[in-house]
Amino acid sequence: MSKRTALYPGTFDPITNGHLDIIERAIPLFDKIIVLLALNSEKTPLFSEFERMEMINESISIFNNVEVMQFKGLVVEFAKKNNAITIIRGLRAISDFEYEFQIALMNRKLNPKIDTVYLMPDEKYTYLSSSIVREVAKHKGDVSCFVPPVVLKKILKRF
Ligand code: COA
Repeated sequence: MSKRTALYPGTFDPITNGHLDIIERAIPLFDKIIVLLALNSEKTPLFSEFERMEMINESISIFNNVEVMQFKGLVVEFAKKNNAITIIRGLRAISDFEYEFQIALMNRKLNPKIDTVYLMPDEKYTYLSSSIVREVAKHKGDVSCFVPPVVLKKILKRF
């Protein structure tokens, strides 16, 4: 039987415990998960590609069958080249839905063979985002319960 590989794409600026919660929920559903750092995001990230890769790599080292890769271009093209069958996205609140719905349908139009699976993080992460973590950190607030240790270390060094 061929391996069921899923992609979890995002900007991860930085990766948070909410992202890790989604990865943990996805692990039993797939044989392999590739956390996919999107390099052509519209966003202007605070952390460099290298730093974000480093933080993801260290955060996922506790899991089996999870790896990180980076890409430029369309997620569905990456999926095809890497034999991935699914894109994973997190749904935190209704407000995520409209945007996710649009991307999922566009991705389906681009490649009908690849579907998107939505997972809901633990409710304690529903209000969490990378930008809110950056905002609190910038003002020297405590973000230790929202990010893995490697990210906290990087944030404390930066601010
Ligand atoms: N826990 C915490 N935060 C979460 C989260 C969770 N479980 N799930 C989502 N978020 C946050 C992210 O931290 C991010 O916060 P921010 O906006 O404050 O930075 C926000 O929700 C969503 O960002 P992210 O998950 O990084 O996705 P994105 O919208 O920045 O990127 C891509 C989406 C990169 C996957 C998408 O643009 C893409 O696929 N680009 C490639 C081109 C392509 O193929 N496009 C699709 C066809 S149109």
